[in-house]
Amino acid sequence: MKTTSKYSQFTLAAVAGLAVVMGIGFASAGIKGSKHDLGSGGTAQATTANTTEVCVFCHTPHGSNTSASAPLWNKKLPTTSYTRYSSLGTSTLDGAETTVGSVSLACLSCHDGTQAMDVMINAPGSGGYNASGAEFDASAIGAMTGGPIPMLGSDLSNDHPVSIQYGGGGLNSSQADGAYTNSTFTDKDFNSVRKATINSNPVWWVDTNSDGTRDKDEMMLYTRTVSSVTQPYVECASCHDPHNAGTASATSVAFLRKSNANSAVCLACHNK
Ligand code: HEC
Ligand code: HEC
Ligand code: HEC
Ligand code: HEC
Repeated sequence: MKTTSKYSQFTLAAVAGLAVVMGIGFASAGIKGSKHDLGSGGTAQATTANTTEVCVFCHTPHGSNTSASAPLWNKKLPTTSYTRYSSLGTSTLDGAETTVGSVSLACLSCHDGTQAMDVMINAPGSGGYNASGAEFDASAIGAMTGGPIPMLGSDLSNDHPVSIQYGGGGLNSSQADGAYTNSTFTDKDFNSVRKATINSNPVWWVDTNSDGTRDKDEMMLYTRTVSSVTQPYVECASCHDPHNAGTASATSVAFLRKSNANSAVCLACHNK
């Protein structure tokens, strides 16, 4: 009996290992134990032994930073002044780039390397609240290192544009809910989007499978109001899902909305 159970454990482990090598994501390949886990069980570039919690480095159930676009955000947003992609002046760019903001700022609160990654507003345990944010374990965790990736720094001109209009513009919240094909965009080289209204707020996404629902592996667009026009923008989390470690493989990074095999991420938006 004992041998059999050891053997089946070995088989299970081998199958799991093979699946990882083959890039088959398990449904359970979430954030725990991933590079976005800064707690004691994580594989982030720096981790602390002082908590086993995972979510706390980004979210708090109470007392969150409501100026952030990411929900229940447990960090201060960076006040960095960024060099943007549009500063390169490429002659092909159609979309208007606006101030780096929305969910991108939440990502950059670690990925621009300007503040310690363990600064939290509400630290784990009772009485950990500090409105201005405090470092949790300065002896173990500091600011992100390793530029230009994964630590993007304040120069975003060498990164895919963010805080940029989808489709070069032409979409706005006065349009009825439904599907919009690229004929209505300023830049026709983009795939169609869908608009819906949830809690009176307009939301847009690239409905890759055209089923009318916002699926987690579809490219999310982020609603921003610029010069009184409310329209969809591309931000870091359009292409990335910070919880989905399932896209990590020998050939792909973690935290993409879907594997980029055959450039599926790029082709979800760009009609090339
Ligand atoms: C490294 C930072 C980070 C960590 C750690 C993290 N999140 Fe998030 N989470 C985010 C960001 C950024 C967003 C906003 C993403 C977006 O706009 O799509 C988000 C959004 C969410 C959302 C709403 C959107 C969705 O995808 O459903 C939920 C729910 C959520 N997180 C739960 C959790 C839980 C539970 C944990 C811990 C197990 C966790 N998160 C850990 C960064 C993080
Ligand atoms: C969520 C949608 C989306 C995804 C996914 C996406 N892009 Fe883009 N991309 C855009 C938008 C919007 C622009 C701005 C283009 C414009 O307005 O002319 C852009 C611009 C570009 C530009 C041109 C910038 C210029 O100067 O004209 C290139 C090149 C590009 N993307 C490549 C890629 C590649 C490669 C991938 C995959 C790794 C990718 N994109 C994934 C939306 C997306
Ligand atoms: C609490 C800090 C923190 C926040 C907030 C954060 N990250 Fe990260 N991220 C990290 C760390 C740490 C790593 C690991 C870096 C390394 O490999 O050295 C990482 C790695 C990554 C990677 C690379 C994964 C790989 O397989 O190499 C991606 C992609 C990423 N983050 C995207 C994002 C995006 C997008 C957001 C916002 C939605 C975000 N991160 C928010 C800390 C953070
Ligand atoms: C248009 C899509 C898109 C946008 C927007 C985007 N990324 Fe990425 N990102 C990708 C893809 C695709 C990869 C995988 C590249 C590869 O395989 O080397 C990636 C890789 C990364 C990595 C891992 C780099 C490495 O090779 O270790 C980090 C970190 C990261 N992104 C963070 C961000 C942050 C932060 C933002 C916002 C400022 C952002 N990304 C915006 C598509 C995007």
